[in-house]
Amino acid sequence: MSEKSNSKKSWGGRFNTPTDAFIERFTASVQFDKRLSEHDIQGSIAHTTMLTEVGILETSERDQIIEGLQAIRSDIEAGRFVWSIALEDVHMNIEHALVERIGETGKKLHTARSRNDQVATDIRLYLRDQIDSILVGLASLMHGLVDLAEREAATVMPGFTHLQTAQPISFGHHMLAWFEMLARDRERLIDCRKRVNVLPLGAGALAGTTFPIDRSISAKLLGFEAIAENSLDAVSDRDFAIEFSACAAMLMMHFSRMAEELVLWTTQQFSFVILDDAFCTGSSMMPQKKNPDVPELIRGKSGRVFGHFVSLITLMKSQPLAYNKDNQEDKEPLFDTVDTIVDCIKAFGALIPGLGVNRDSMRAAAEKGFATATDLADYLVGRGVPFRDAHAVVGGAVRLAVEKNCNLKDLSIDEFKKLHPAMTEKVYAVLDIDHSLKARDHFGGTAPTQVLAACERARRRLEES
Ligand code: ARG
Repeated sequence: MSEKSNSKKSWGGRFNTPTDAFIERFTASVQFDKRLSEHDIQGSIAHTTMLTEVGILETSERDQIIEGLQAIRSDIEAGRFVWSIALEDVHMNIEHALVERIGETGKKLHTARSRNDQVATDIRLYLRDQIDSILVGLASLMHGLVDLAEREAATVMPGFTHLQTAQPISFGHHMLAWFEMLARDRERLIDCRKRVNVLPLGAGALAGTTFPIDRSISAKLLGFEAIAENSLDAVSDRDFAIEFSACAAMLMMHFSRMAEELVLWTTQQFSFVILDDAFCTGSSMMPQKKNPDVPELIRGKSGRVFGHFVSLITLMKSQPLAYNKDNQEDKEPLFDTVDTIVDCIKAFGALIPGLGVNRDSMRAAAEKGFATATDLADYLVGRGVPFRDAHAVVGGAVRLAVEKNCNLKDLSIDEFKKLHPAMTEKVYAVLDIDHSLKARDHFGGTAPTQVLAACERARRRLEES
């Protein structure tokens, strides 16, 4: 029999003509779902154990099946396993290899199971593992941000709104703003994991099974916290994958913002930070170039992750219950989402600890653009001037400084007094950027002592959850 023959197919019984070679390839998923092999084997071992505990399989059969699956696992790990398109997917490739290896007993593995509940189980096991390692990588990147924030708590930089100089801030405070974005991503992933961690196995093709299975045994063996309540929903639900993909999209949106700031900050014009050479490349034509490739790529990769979210949610749109072959299309977007965020977390995690901070140029930039104008207005308010009036008075001071092409602190005390009689010599201290930073001394503020306190809390939060 040729590879094209349906005799090899587990479902070939009712078919007369062999599958067309192109259609065989078109409908197969083994090219990409072989990546689920480890989780498929874990699921099958648990299923076999459960079937034995409820008396459907003999213990000798169980032992043969499990040994066979373990040998297949070794073959796959060693790269010895031969995957066949004719066997369609990871599930049938492994089952076929099992029968070849242990004979008739292998055919009993699929008792009380369908590929529909099997594949749903595999993806959940795979994604749960991925979330766990993503959380480890993310925490390490976040620790890197806290370390940097602590080191640079008293480093002044201009804070921006509309990308225009707004008020002086601590560079450490800025790093902790990034930390907060990622802290929300982390919380979302931890929460998403709960809905991933539900057992579909036992739902059969859609309606359950006539065998006296015990799903709680399978759940326990596989570490699932809950058992899917409804067999129809269990085989067709991919919400958990969509939800994960939404979490990943949000993470990549944050990464793209962080990356964009790094790209800006490494320009000649900003020169706020220096990326380690390992994270840059040169230009084939311009000898002076050192391009911020890693942040640029991370920024660019956000696109594909957003796209995968749209693919997945569209895949599920209008699907009638229960399983449909459409669902086979969930894997590639999901895998690529995982691969992309794993790599981006790794790249960012490696980049942050080696980030060079150009304190002098950040300070020089903060001195420009009248960043302490608000401090001056606040000072006048302290002297009894209503805020709206104070705002207008300081507006006048800025206009004067622009005319004279100088900074606010270069105006004379007479000029200040002429602008408002409540002005005193103290204005010069108020206009100082370090003073400005220190003055924002409350929970969530940019004062260096507050930044240090926030670093401590951040570390504790990472430890706690
Ligand atoms: N390869 C399939 C998938 O990924 C497995 C389930 C196939 N089920 C079926 N009834 N054809 O969705």
